[in-house]
Amino acid sequence: MPKVLIVYYSHTGNTEKMARAVAEGAKTAADVEVEVKRDEIPFRLGSYDAILIGAPTYQHNMTSNIKNFLEKVAFHNVNLKGKIGAAFGSYGWSGEAPGFVLEVMENKFGMNVLKPPLLIEYTPDDKGLEKCRELGKRAARQVSE
Ligand SMILES: Cc1cc2nc3c(=O)[nH]c(=O)nc-3n(C[C@H](O)[C@H](O)[C@H](O)COP(=O)(O)O)c2cc1C
Repeated sequence: MPKVLIVYYSHTGNTEKMARAVAEGAKTAADVEVEVKRDEIPFRLGSYDAILIGAPTYQHNMTSNIKNFLEKVAFHNVNLKGKIGAAFGSYGWSGEAPGFVLEVMENKFGMNVLKPPLLIEYTPDDKGLEKCRELGKRAARQVSE
């Protein structure tokens, strides 16, 4: 069965709410195995078919743990070429982080990314959560095709 990983960081819980809704969507869309994690060992990424990263924006950037995580994936040459990639995150006013993550996924790792990144202002409301579920569904359908 195809495997979908949702890995995220969240300081005040908003991106975490998004991550849970993304997972819900992925589970309802197709016959896929879905894991949601706050942390993952970089070289384990090779065992997933789709990787969705939740990254809130702090100081106009992704947080250092997400940055370190991506750097470790690159350092260990984990092969993610052709895997489905997506990025999402909560933000307040500028929301750069998910775009930066998606750029690394596409240009550095050669992943097949779902555009655009999904940004939700602060706490996701029902409409925002539905967008998160839609993103999960899109990713799950792509890997189960
Ligand atoms: C110290 C601090 C810096 C922040 N910097 C930014 C920023 O540069 N751009 C932005 O869009 N939002 C910024 N925010 C807002 C957060 O992205 C927002 O609160 C978001 O909901 C946090 O997501 P989380 O609950 O998943 O941690 C900042 C918030 C704090 C507390």
